[in-house]
Amino acid sequence: MPTESQSPHLPFGDNTHAEWYGKDILSVKQFSRADLEYIFGVAHEMRGMVERVGTFDLLKGKILANLFYEPSTRTASSFMAAMQRLGGSVVAINEVKYSSVSKGESLPDTIRTLECYTDVIVLRHPEVGSAAIAAEAAEKPVLNAGDGVGEHPTQALLDLFTIFEELGAGKVDGLTITMLGDLKYGRTVHSLARLLTLFDVKLNYVSPEILRMPKDVMDEVSAKNIPQTEYTTLEEVLPETDVLYVTRVQKERFENPADYEKVAGSFVVNPEIMKAAKQEMIVMHPLPRVGEISPDFDTDPRAAYFLQMEYGLYVRMALLAMVLGKA
Ligand code: NCD
Repeated sequence: MPTESQSPHLPFGDNTHAEWYGKDILSVKQFSRADLEYIFGVAHEMRGMVERVGTFDLLKGKILANLFYEPSTRTASSFMAAMQRLGGSVVAINEVKYSSVSKGESLPDTIRTLECYTDVIVLRHPEVGSAAIAAEAAEKPVLNAGDGVGEHPTQALLDLFTIFEELGAGKVDGLTITMLGDLKYGRTVHSLARLLTLFDVKLNYVSPEILRMPKDVMDEVSAKNIPQTEYTTLEEVLPETDVLYVTRVQKERFENPADYEKVAGSFVVNPEIMKAAKQEMIVMHPLPRVGEISPDFDTDPRAAYFLQMEYGLYVRMALLAMVLGKA
């Protein structure tokens, strides 16, 4: 294992003029298939480097601002770990109530402040479009880590990377992907459905009536000629499913708490139900789960949700290196 003074050969050049240098990552709509191959190639290299050396100096001297206006465990900590594994450091603001946000500071002013001190900004915010507003205010790259019920592009990338790594990169075309749960408020499925339109897939949406996939997302999917069908029960589509993407009912986004009570616990994936599914398929979840997948399914080889978390580290390392001109 190389010591710090003998840095290993890094498989990444200094491409400060490369295509991704200085770019914002706001929506999955900005990616092509070629982009995905490139990002996943870099993520794959990152995986190898983490396994071999753990931490290395690709982003030494660079600082990330991790600005979270909404709760997060995985997204916040994986961006922090990603930056630190690349040798960079992090200014973390995850309790905005202790920052000047609680004094009424606007998002653009907070962003302008943080970019004085840092090189790249990761933002999670409760309002749709907030990442675009931040990117407008900032010269430095802004990465959208979830803008309300809008998008969660880095999650969609790690979700697709998981599918590539687990089912085979060449095998996305032809897959049947079933999204289950809160398709109305779940931003991860909004981004993933859009991203999957780059492939020849079939999409199934299973949700309670009041949590159906929004019309704007469905219109975008049908404009790309991707077949999509809505269902209210999982049983009808489980046997044909290659990827079952389960989501949490987003309690915090309901205007009326009584509506949440009506649909909470509508779907539970457990070993009994999964008997009807293929052996060669995967079950994914962006996590946190609050009962949608019973823990006794966790040891099933089809359970891919813990792998997803790990792959999120590599994808976020790749994205940070790319926008900072080092990949
Ligand atoms: C998701 C999110 O924040 O949208 N979590 C995550 O980033 N892994 C899903 C959720 O909160 O249910």
